[in-house]
Amino acid sequence: MLAKARQNRALRWLGRQILNTPQPASYFDPLAEAINPMWVQAYTPARVERIFTETHDTKTLVLRPARRWGGFQAGQHVNLGVDIEGVRRQRTFSLSSSPRLWQDNGQITLTIKRHPGGRVTNWLHDHLEEGAVLGLTDAFGDFLLPSVAKPLLFIAGGSGITPILSQLESLAAEDYRAPVTLLYFVRTRKDTIARETITALAARYSALTVRILATHDNASPRSLNGSDLDSVPGLTARDVFLCGPGGLMDLATELLYQRGIRDSQVHCTFFAPPTIASLSKEALGGDVRFVRSALSVDSTGDATLLEIAEAAGLHPQSGCRMGICHQCSCRKTSGTVINRLTGKPSGPGEESVQLCVSVPRGPVTLDV
Ligand code: FES
Repeated sequence: MLAKARQNRALRWLGRQILNTPQPASYFDPLAEAINPMWVQAYTPARVERIFTETHDTKTLVLRPARRWGGFQAGQHVNLGVDIEGVRRQRTFSLSSSPRLWQDNGQITLTIKRHPGGRVTNWLHDHLEEGAVLGLTDAFGDFLLPSVAKPLLFIAGGSGITPILSQLESLAAEDYRAPVTLLYFVRTRKDTIARETITALAARYSALTVRILATHDNASPRSLNGSDLDSVPGLTARDVFLCGPGGLMDLATELLYQRGIRDSQVHCTFFAPPTIASLSKEALGGDVRFVRSALSVDSTGDATLLEIAEAAGLHPQSGCRMGICHQCSCRKTSGTVINRLTGKPSGPGEESVQLCVSVPRGPVTLDV
């Protein structure tokens, strides 16, 4: 009798501890993961239903997230979590399927290019198998289609086509009735991602015009030029969506501005963190103090606060590593940082900074 009362007291105590903890999932998830990984609560589990090859270095994953996942809008991204050699790693990828596929079939797709030296993309290409379960965050990002129909121009380079595929599928699904043009730059024809999908889209969606332009198929390489833009009917009335390597995006923006397109008409999403080309590297770096970790690191050059922290053995939270997801945001209590995306300096005082795109300029103190 006494033993039973003690047992009940112990169970009540355990229940209170679990319910009072800020992350009850951390108690149950290891057990859930062992029984059925789709029951895990700390992230949304997504089963890999199919993997297919797009090009020699790009694959598409067809995933079925648990039904509690919140869905997405065309052009958004998710962080994908994978365990590699016992370490949980997250990277950001754009959703390449239409939101309609999720609504109707409960599936999404991510189209992933292998990055040379990229730990996560190489693991996904070499080791991921159908049937495995990956972790997803909620979707995020503001690379979104306009809410009222207006003429659109999409300029994509390489794997920058992925969020645009989702947007084009979405426009076709809702039969968006304004002219839509895609200029898709690939290195060679063989590097065209989702060629069949794009061809089929253009065939069934009459508002869409597609030009696929190979930059290195001939002896003299070509890039985007003014006449590519001048061939787009009614160019200056269009909203423009850009996604691709930094060089293509910079060139496109410059050519569009020269043709009278306004800043408010241009929508970009970053494909990789831009580098600080215009700032002298001697001006960058400094002593970075991670106060909560009781650690100081002297940095030089244009390493970001995230890179500096990781090189010192710290593991601050991060996701996309390119300034999109805000998972790495933390308090800077003093010092100036340069934002890699804008090249602009922060103020000297207390404020929130994104570790992955902030480069110290002089001594910086962080609440990390
Ligand atoms: S890791 Fe995503 S914004 Fe820094």
